[in-house]
Amino acid sequence: MPTTRATAEEADQETEIKDRSAVRTLLRLWPYVRPVRARLFTAAFVAIIASCVGLVIPLVLKWMVDGPVADRDLAGVWLGALYLLLLGLTEALLFGLRRWLIARPLAGVEASMRADLYRHLQRLPVAFHDRWASGQLLSRGTTDLMLLRMFLAFPLTFLLVNAVTILVGVIIMLGQDWTLGLIILGPAVPVVVTCVVFEKKYAAVARLAQDQVGDLTTVVEESVLGIRIIKGFGRHRSQARAFRELSRTLRGTELRKARLLSTIWGVIVTLPELAIGAALIVGVVQVADGELSAGTLVAFLSTALALRWPVDSIGFLLAMSQEAATATERYFEVMDAKPETAPAAGSRAAGAAPVPQRAAPPSEQRPHAAAGSSTEQLGGLQFLGVRFRYPDAPADTTPILDHIDLHIRPGESMALVGATGSGKTTLTALVPRLHELTSGRITLDGEDITEMSREELRAKVSVAFEEPTLFSATVGENVLMGARPDADTPDLDRALAIAQADFAHALPQGTATQVGEQGLSLSGGQRQRLALARAVVGRPRFLVLDDPLSALDVHTEAAVEAALRRVLAETTALIVAHRPSTVLLADRVALLSGGRIAAVGTHHELLRTNAEYAHLMSGTEESEPTKESEQAEEVAR
Ligand SMILES: Nc1ncnc2c1ncn2[C@@H]1O[C@H](COP(=O)(O)OP(=O)(O)O)[C@@H](O)[C@H]1O
Ligand SMILES: [Mg+2]
Repeated sequence: MPTTRATAEEADQETEIKDRSAVRTLLRLWPYVRPVRARLFTAAFVAIIASCVGLVIPLVLKWMVDGPVADRDLAGVWLGALYLLLLGLTEALLFGLRRWLIARPLAGVEASMRADLYRHLQRLPVAFHDRWASGQLLSRGTTDLMLLRMFLAFPLTFLLVNAVTILVGVIIMLGQDWTLGLIILGPAVPVVVTCVVFEKKYAAVARLAQDQVGDLTTVVEESVLGIRIIKGFGRHRSQARAFRELSRTLRGTELRKARLLSTIWGVIVTLPELAIGAALIVGVVQVADGELSAGTLVAFLSTALALRWPVDSIGFLLAMSQEAATATERYFEVMDAKPETAPAAGSRAAGAAPVPQRAAPPSEQRPHAAAGSSTEQLGGLQFLGVRFRYPDAPADTTPILDHIDLHIRPGESMALVGATGSGKTTLTALVPRLHELTSGRITLDGEDITEMSREELRAKVSVAFEEPTLFSATVGENVLMGARPDADTPDLDRALAIAQADFAHALPQGTATQVGEQGLSLSGGQRQRLALARAVVGRPRFLVLDDPLSALDVHTEAAVEAALRRVLAETTALIVAHRPSTVLLADRVALLSGGRIAAVGTHHELLRTNAEYAHLMSGTEESEPTKESEQAEEVAR
């Protein structure tokens, strides 16, 4: 499989790809075609035989015209007709055989390319998905792969078959009569020149069209997912206008393709047709002069006519090949993107990869404000001099996170508080390595997260995100995604109970109920509770929760908090929180401000000593911090 490639080569590829010839691009399909090469070659061979059988028909005609027809031998004519019928049948059967030979293997090629693309997309880092529109990926996995299958089924074989057929036909024609043969060959040069010019132009337009299909797919996908917002804000008209605009652009591009195709078709069809007409006139004159037998002229002309289809089809075969080359290019643009880097223990042979630099210089690890100790090899979850800048941000901008030093002791739970946009979500995403650190390190029980395999890391750390996503599967399957494969019903029930998601049992089919795309049929609070259940079902050592309670009503929230308190007692946790009630679940609070951990302490300490913290906490909708904190203190005792 062509998934792993040298890294240096890859940087060049982006620029190089433009001036690659279609043939070289299509050659990249070889690894996928290789397994079915025997079938494909056999099929091409069968097609060539079939095509050549077709070319024998004119020779039988010649024999009939010069023999039985001239001699008025009825039995001979019948025999000739029988030969023709048999030849026709053989040709049809052979072409049928060809189709049968390749249909299944090519469906297999398409399926395996699609599977590879999907697997690769799953392995690509979040940063890649941030950068790429989903419609572009969707169209590559559907339209482009379909184009490739069609190319392998048709143009690939028939460009070869037609070339052989034309060659054999021309030899036969030259064999019949030199002069007529040369007349027929006359248009060859202008036709070839037109094809070359056409290919270049068509390549550019085909690429444009396929990219525009991707854009269109993105709009469709977004408006289907965002249908509530579009309806709610009465935006369907402007959305429809935007869509119409894009589809009009695409239509324009398709028309340009059609115009190019019709130009080349005009040349390819007209010139040979003229040549055939000229040959007919010259031939008739020769027959009249007695220089040529009528049978030879019939054979000659029917050979020329038999070659019409192979010649005419060259135009759209080339067009399809060009589209396939573009599709291949688009497919490998995704496949060439680097997947998440392997762990240190594994193969880090491709040293040029932008692996996070480990161990920031000591000067960067200076203890900061009330931040946790930065002594190394501590248990629990530790951030050491962490700096992070999004990969697509310019290098000279200030990092979103800088000099983050924070230590969450084993078994402790730490709330993370900060203004909107301060980088809380970003910080939580660093722990399961959804993004790579720009510098610094994060350790779990003293072990650097970049030293572990991703499986190991993600088995240790469990996450629940702000936006709870449910997949089109049953409630149980959605929750058990967070568990080991051998997890069973008791685990599920326990997790549902902890997340106060017992409503799942009351659904029509209980936990076997299908939830729709993104769990559309459930309320926001229900989805959040299922996401929480998914986070705790695997009994992770470390729990990272990004504001997991934001969509819950006050009563449910109180219930989830009560349950969470039990979970937190068993794990080391980092919880992004907005409300005092959530903050109070944690043992300590860290305040994220200006890209740093500005303060660490208990809720009360910070309320007293830190103005920003006090402000953040007072601004939230629950305005009774005193009552809440009393409760918390009771719990703490
Ligand atoms: N994928 C991304 N690429 C570039 N910038 C991002 C990305 N995601 C978030 N940001 C920026 O990072 C900053 C912090 O975002 P975030 O971590 O979501 O904040 P919080 O969760 O504290 O509200 C914001 O300014 C946001 O615009
Ligand atoms: Mg956030």
